[in-house]
Amino acid sequence: MAGASHAHWSSRWAFIMAAVGSAVGLGNIWKFPYEANAGGGGAFVMVYLAFVFLIGTPLLVAELSLGRRGQLSPIRSMEKVAKEEGRANWWSLVGWSGVIGSFIVISFYSVVGGWTLSYVLEALTGGMSGITKEAAEAHFNGMVTDPITPLFWHAGFMAITVGIVLRGVEGGLEKAVTVLMPALFVLLVGLVIYSGVTGDFMAAVNFLFAPDWSKMNADVALNALGQSFFSLSLALGSIMVYGSYLTKDVKIGKAAVTIAAADSAVAILAGLAIFPIVFAFGLTVSKEEGLVFMTLPIAFGQMTGGALIGTLFFGLLTVAAITSSISLLEPSVSYLEETGKMSRKKATFTIGVAAFILGSFSSLGFGELSDFTIFGKSIIGFKSYITNNLMMPLAGMFMAIFVGWFISRKGMMEELAMEEKWFRIWFFMIKFICPVAILIVFYNIVFGF
Ligand code: TRP
Repeated sequence: MAGASHAHWSSRWAFIMAAVGSAVGLGNIWKFPYEANAGGGGAFVMVYLAFVFLIGTPLLVAELSLGRRGQLSPIRSMEKVAKEEGRANWWSLVGWSGVIGSFIVISFYSVVGGWTLSYVLEALTGGMSGITKEAAEAHFNGMVTDPITPLFWHAGFMAITVGIVLRGVEGGLEKAVTVLMPALFVLLVGLVIYSGVTGDFMAAVNFLFAPDWSKMNADVALNALGQSFFSLSLALGSIMVYGSYLTKDVKIGKAAVTIAAADSAVAILAGLAIFPIVFAFGLTVSKEEGLVFMTLPIAFGQMTGGALIGTLFFGLLTVAAITSSISLLEPSVSYLEETGKMSRKKATFTIGVAAFILGSFSSLGFGELSDFTIFGKSIIGFKSYITNNLMMPLAGMFMAIFVGWFISRKGMMEELAMEEKWFRIWFFMIKFICPVAILIVFYNIVFGF
């Protein structure tokens, strides 16, 4: 039977590595630094951290506990918990939104994951040596607009993801994350030290921690909230499905705080690895999204040992992306597998191929299909808008409302086994603060000011 074979993490450590692996990704190392740069450095960082701990962490607790209670894929877990609580079946839409949303995200996440893979090779073969600003920009633009090359890398990245996921929770996901995550951490700390010694460390510290409030406005705050959801992997089923593989002895509250703290630490460490070099080489960030792909290679190309450092940096980025992409494939794979119509292998292949095809359009959207727009957005822009700005806030809000208002408080208290004091604080946040905060932000995203 479908549910009977439902897998579990073999230890608390394995679960923490998997969840941190999901959270830590392109969002931390590629997006966070450029959004911090655009948002005035320290001011953005402060607002971001406030959102992570006040809104993101309580939601993390809610999503994990829904998954663990359900012990099924996000769709069937929501269905089951709603039924147990005597609530309408349509709460399962939160699960559907997660499964569909994570499928859309993996389709374009893998395209960017492919770019990082290609940059590993580029750095390794000395392709960045002595590169000028113009050449670095030309290389990046040339690569992403090419019809074939990025598809090749996109396929490679997806193949790695599929290769891990089809081996199952213990044999695939868990094995990968327990090796890759500690390696990633060591590599990152090494890069921060290197960057701190050779670069302008104090300028980076100042930039990341001394707030320049003049650049803070509602738009930047919205970005910070969206970024905190994305970075914590919230509301798209990844966290719920990982929660469903949890055993009852793990304390969800503590785990959530650990995950949020590790995720934030990596984002800040990524900033401390990147900005000292950027400042020391006097580089200016001409295009925010290009910070990692167009600006950093110039520094790698000028520093001694840059080929090695560059290879390590892009290797790190690729590892972070892979431990996230497996969590993006898992929600739909777990659903297909659970229907009992397919083996896990077949389900993973099917979803992987479908996501590759859907992602190919995002990739081609940079070149051949760049004239094709949906509501004035590029293909990747459109997919990122509906997932980041619509599905994530809505599913997050309904999840908070469901847990805060439609589930018995007592049942929740038993599920979480938190100290009374902490439970009260958490419950207040999830019942009132999370839904209202998300509603305000959502309203502003959709209707402007
Ligand atoms: N959190 C990952 C990152 O920062 C991306 C990710 C994985 C994600 N799973 C998710 C984002 C689920 C939203 C929802 O790169």
